[in-house]
Amino acid sequence: MTDLHEPRRRALLPFLDLKRHGNRSHVTCFYKCGNACDSAIPNQTDNPTFADVVQTAFSRRSMLKAAGAGALLVAAGPLAPAAAHAGGPSGRSGGTQGGALTFRSVEQNTLDELVTASGYRYAVVMRWGDPVVAGAPDFDIDRQTPEAQAAQFGYNCDYIGLLPLDDKDREALLVVNHEYTNEQLMFSGVESESAPTTPQQKRIAMMAHGISVVEVRRHGNTGEWRPVRNGRRNRRITADTPMEFTGPAAGSEYLRTKADPRGRTVLGTLNNCAGGQTPWGTTLHGEENFNQYFGPATGPVADPERRLARYGISSTTAAGRRWHEVDPRFDVASEPNEVNRFGWVVEVDPYDPTSRPKKRTAMGRFKHEGANVRIAEDGRVVAYSGDDERFDYIYKFVSKKKYRPGNDKASRAHNLTLLDEGDLYVAQFTGDSPPAEITGTGTLPADREFDGTGRWIPLVKNGKSMVPGRQVAWVLTFTRLAADELGAQGPAFAPTKMDRPEDIQVNPVNGRVYAALTNNTNRGTGSNPKADEANPRTANRHGHVVEWEETAGAAGETFSWRIFLVAGDPSDPSTYFAGFDKSKVSAISCPDNVEFDPAGNLWISTDGSPGTLPGSNDGLYAVPTEGRERGLVKRFLTVPFGAECSGPLITRDARSVFVSVQHPGETDGSTVDSPTSTWPDRRRVRPFPRPSVAVAYRRDGGRVGS
Ligand code: FEO
Ligand code: CA
Ligand code: CA
Repeated sequence: MTDLHEPRRRALLPFLDLKRHGNRSHVTCFYKCGNACDSAIPNQTDNPTFADVVQTAFSRRSMLKAAGAGALLVAAGPLAPAAAHAGGPSGRSGGTQGGALTFRSVEQNTLDELVTASGYRYAVVMRWGDPVVAGAPDFDIDRQTPEAQAAQFGYNCDYIGLLPLDDKDREALLVVNHEYTNEQLMFSGVESESAPTTPQQKRIAMMAHGISVVEVRRHGNTGEWRPVRNGRRNRRITADTPMEFTGPAAGSEYLRTKADPRGRTVLGTLNNCAGGQTPWGTTLHGEENFNQYFGPATGPVADPERRLARYGISSTTAAGRRWHEVDPRFDVASEPNEVNRFGWVVEVDPYDPTSRPKKRTAMGRFKHEGANVRIAEDGRVVAYSGDDERFDYIYKFVSKKKYRPGNDKASRAHNLTLLDEGDLYVAQFTGDSPPAEITGTGTLPADREFDGTGRWIPLVKNGKSMVPGRQVAWVLTFTRLAADELGAQGPAFAPTKMDRPEDIQVNPVNGRVYAALTNNTNRGTGSNPKADEANPRTANRHGHVVEWEETAGAAGETFSWRIFLVAGDPSDPSTYFAGFDKSKVSAISCPDNVEFDPAGNLWISTDGSPGTLPGSNDGLYAVPTEGRERGLVKRFLTVPFGAECSGPLITRDARSVFVSVQHPGETDGSTVDSPTSTWPDRRRVRPFPRPSVAVAYRRDGGRVGS
């Protein structure tokens, strides 16, 4: 096994579980997304298919070609890569100049260890339960309390942001999402997902959700970072932290509850998956599978307009987590609107520990994987967001006001309002190659110029609803339904049903946008939508990555796109690696989060194996997007057994890669007392896994990827 010395490997042997898992574990399905795949597909629309829209595409395409492509500007977050412009939007220069990916790929493995490429090491930065807020107690799994957990690092870390505290990149704020909890791996004695939990355990789980802010400091002159205990800005945000609604839907009838008759204040954020960093020094956090926390506790409720069903919320049964037993707002029978108060993008100002997080209603409500921003040529802010559900859509928000560069008080105050007013669009991908080219199980053609054109269809524009008969607040609160209703107007308005849109990010070098589509085994089965050019694989088990270029400026309404990657084992003929020689690439399955290094290499973390890729843990992969090695996917690290890899973040000096090791040991039957992973604390008498943020760096302090 790569980079594991034999003695160390032998020491680990008692912890290794080399069993092959044929599918994602039931526990992951239960805890992570409330068994979303067992339920009916929420998108039951019959909106036009690719075949219907292909005809209209040809005429549009010639128009677009005539319009040409404008230069793109790219957002640079405080510790995000600087916005280099080596290549124009369609330029092939620049690329990975000075950023060659020369590391040797890590071999596939099912070790219970974080395995890095040779020449690298890693350090654990924060573990579930580590003290965050001043005065927090040390973690003791047998003495957990809600109060302790509310001051400690939460469970199942996901998105990672890093905001600088100085000019020299020696001190920073680490911002981390805590997506969900797995009670079987948190509490001794909880033996299955159907086992009841105590009220105390439920309250602890609520406090283990949310977000952590932790001051971190570079260790010496290395790529390692360590937490600052009791840092002044350290903060926990939980399922109970007060936050404000802002934007057009704030105060609307859909957001009012008994506890908040004004519809302006909500407690907590849930299921925060991916996120993004803004150039004005805040972080954005997607509320993803929020549906699983809500349900009627006392029998069926009415579901007008499928407002519940379209979001995967049951109108007949209580939520599996049964949080309503400790907080009635989770019972949709007693508080029908509470569920409308989740599914938003939350903006946090980590520099101000007293600031109230804001739920930005202008960005719409769906299962936001995350949100990533860029600054358009004219200064407006553009945010991309995927709706992670089988056959759901990709969205784009364009602010009305312009970004003001500079960190002075007035500019910052202005920038903190940017996400409250603007246009919301949903994506339509149109292929213009003959449908026969879509093979489903065959081989995709070699790398091509952009395959298709695309259009951003407005849902809200200039402050007005573009959905006939619907008010803006309705469109923003029931965005999925609004997008469906647009599609029902005809092919020209039909958003494209995608294979679970995940993280979307802009390449800082070439200005193109990359979206991870994680998988959709229902694609093309039964009466489900068939494979199309943007989702080219039937029963898409391994997912793919789509690449697009805004053709009328970043804030514009048109784009060109092509498939960048169709994931899987390269021996599978339906895989595609941007046309690169498949005998040289690493197998990869279920792309989830995407990130760029300053040279414009794409880094992809995965969530699927070993279920989807036998004999392989999840990991972090890197691939050039330009030049001769475009498409050469290489496995940079793998995460311990049962974990998924998420939240990758590469520092702007490219010397550190942060990853979230989410749900180590989450396999069927794995419990605190009998876990299938013991990472990272093996020396305990009774070891159990702890989801943790780790940082990988070169031993010689050099550039990551080299
Ligand atoms: Fe939480 Fe879409 O992954
Ligand atoms: Ca994710
Ligand atoms: Ca990302």
